[in-house]
Amino acid sequence: MSVALVTGSGGLIGSEAVRHFAGLGLDVVGIDNDMRQRFFGAEASTAWNVQRLVTELGSSYTHHTIDIRDRDALAAVFRRYGSDIAVVIHTAAQPSHDWAVRDPYTDFDVNAGGTLNVLQNVREHCIEAPVIHCSTNKVYGDRPNSLPFVELETRWEIEPGHPYEQGIREDMSIDSSLHSIFGASKVAADVMVQEYGRYFGMRTACFRGGTLTGPAHSATELHGFLGYVMRANMERRKYRIYGYQGKQVRDAIHSSDVVAAFEAFFRNPRPAAVYNLGGGRHSNISMREAFAEAERITGHEMISEYVEENRVGDHKWWIGSNEAFQADYPEWKQIYDVPMIMREIYEANVEKWVPAA
Ligand SMILES: NC(=O)c1ccc[n+]([C@@H]2O[C@H](COP(=O)([O-])OP(=O)(O)OC[C@H]3O[C@@H](n4cnc5c(N)ncnc54)[C@H](O)[C@@H]3O)[C@@H](O)[C@H]2O)c1
Repeated sequence: MSVALVTGSGGLIGSEAVRHFAGLGLDVVGIDNDMRQRFFGAEASTAWNVQRLVTELGSSYTHHTIDIRDRDALAAVFRRYGSDIAVVIHTAAQPSHDWAVRDPYTDFDVNAGGTLNVLQNVREHCIEAPVIHCSTNKVYGDRPNSLPFVELETRWEIEPGHPYEQGIREDMSIDSSLHSIFGASKVAADVMVQEYGRYFGMRTACFRGGTLTGPAHSATELHGFLGYVMRANMERRKYRIYGYQGKQVRDAIHSSDVVAAFEAFFRNPRPAAVYNLGGGRHSNISMREAFAEAERITGHEMISEYVEENRVGDHKWWIGSNEAFQADYPEWKQIYDVPMIMREIYEANVEKWVPAA
């Protein structure tokens, strides 16, 4: 038996990973306690997604409703499958800046402590298994905001000819910048994942994601940029823009392109790898441009409100470079761009995201 163990299996990336690795013929064991509902309320619950996995995948998917902070319960799952575990994909997290500041203990316990719990269990029970960790571009804090930008009509752009014109590389420092409480808990996790790779020789990878997106996101105001733009437009909700004239730029990568990268690493893992992974130059958009794209798709104007102050530590412009990953894994191909992603989010949710009666 070969097992893929996925934490956060009801979430956007977790559920895509479950389906993908089940498709490769592995038995998939998922861990998720629907904590997203506790973070963001009922509309963000991922229970529907777990139910879908159980129905679609039958006996190739086994779900455990446990909390990754619960060391005993987590160890029991690892002990049960032991060295049958062929890969661990760690996606469970508290994912929002704004939420973290309300409850730093819980944020740190889930993001940093939970990651340590996963790593130590891999070390004890299945040390050969590659560990794929979902890190974030927020580990660079607000340092990207110190890059030289030019203001264009619909977006901020990096100065032409800058060494990061094709995207920010992993050589950007993660020190001496404002991270937010969330960014700091993710830095702790990222560094610990690297350390288990270096110190114990485990095959670990930190994938520092830009905006990860797709139709399986339980999009909500505090988390899920493109999903929430579409949701707000479709449900006729007011979308709040925080600062930067709405010209802030994000790169966006579809969850299926993300898990294809995970598969490449699984097939040819290496210790202590660190990669930026995002839409890159191929797939990026500003908030204003995303509004226009949503309006094109639905035919409805966005309802929005502008708040002068930007979110603390928010990136004015983030386009990451996938160059390092592509150099190590040239077989990986990115398929989706932003218009394809937004159209797919629309089509998948057209029955669900309707204006309140
Ligand atoms: N979505 C993005 O734009 C983005 C960008 C960069 C990095 N990331 C990182 O990628 C990972 C996955 O993101 P996502 O968008 O799929 O998030 P998500 O919120 O959709 O999924 C995370 C899942 O983990 C579960 N979970 C949370 N705490 C848990 C706990 N203590 N025990 C068990 N389960 C728990 C949640 O219920 C949820 O189903 C996270 O680590 C996130 O920080 C996401």
